Amino acid sequence: MKIKKAVIPAAGWGTRLLPATKAQPKEMLPIVDKPAIQYIVEEAVAAGIEDILIITSKDKQSIEDHFDISQALEDALEKQGKTELLEMVQDISEMITIHSVRQKEQKGLGHAIYCAKTFVGDDPFAVLLGDDIIHSEKPVIQQMIEIYEEKEAPILGCKTVPEKDVSKYGIVNYSRRDGDVYKVEDMVEKPSAAEAPSNLGILGRYIITPEIFDILENTPPGKGGEIQLTDALKTMLDQREVFGYDFEGKRYDVGNKMGFLKTTVELALAREDLGPEFKQYLKDLTEDF
Ligand code: UTP
Repeated sequence: MKIKKAVIPAAGWGTRLLPATKAQPKEMLPIVDKPAIQYIVEEAVAAGIEDILIITSKDKQSIEDHFDISQALEDALEKQGKTELLEMVQDISEMITIHSVRQKEQKGLGHAIYCAKTFVGDDPFAVLLGDDIIHSEKPVIQQMIEIYEEKEAPILGCKTVPEKDVSKYGIVNYSRRDGDVYKVEDMVEKPSAAEAPSNLGILGRYIITPEIFDILENTPPGKGGEIQLTDALKTMLDQREVFGYDFEGKRYDVGNKMGFLKTTVELALAREDLGPEFKQYLKDLTEDF
């Protein structure tokens, strides 16, 4: 079955980026000149996704507004003859149908995904975390859809992570590896280095089948008192095969301060319009230190 629906959970508190996230969603913080979540929506659109559900919360209205029409702004740009800017603004609202649902209490990523139950129905669906930007030639979620079409099983976007970082991720235990695809045998959410079964971390992209909703309904709070998606996926292993896929691309976690800085610098350097001048600026700057 073709994957046409994606869910972007974006209801977290964003405490690691306080105070910037006190009154604005972390997903709306700009990376160069675009809100972080727009990069993620663009990845989904480029992969052929037709409907996106964003899981938001009470104070995140600006995410919905960003993807909606802004008539007053469009009128002003038209009057001023700023055609390029007008087109850019219109492209954002015309890009794709965006739906949203509010997660009323921040009970964890698993609970956020559960909020997508009605939207998803009986179809397999993609999940792209709202604070993970992945820079790649082919959209990572498209790479994963292709693996899904071959395996017809849930696919977890994975990368090897340094041992000191295993406690930040869901970590996979696998029995065999076929190229970039791993057969998952177990998973554990944010283990200590001693508990971690491997260094293969789940990094912000998933293809999930709809049985997950029945499982999530019965998944108790886990690590950090939150309902964990990793725990539900682990239960799913009793019912069907799950695969990890070592995707091609560089992943940035914009949800913490250092990650946010690195993403901003690297994506600015990658830009044709800003990159060369910015690179020279950084060179001159570092010579002064
Ligand atoms: P994170 O743990 O990275 O996000 O969750 P957070 O809770 O916003 O961040 P900190 O730790 O307080 O800084 C991973 C993803 O799951 C979403 C987040 O928005 C993020 O995209 N999430 C998390 C929800 O949608 N709901 C939740 O209850 C928790």
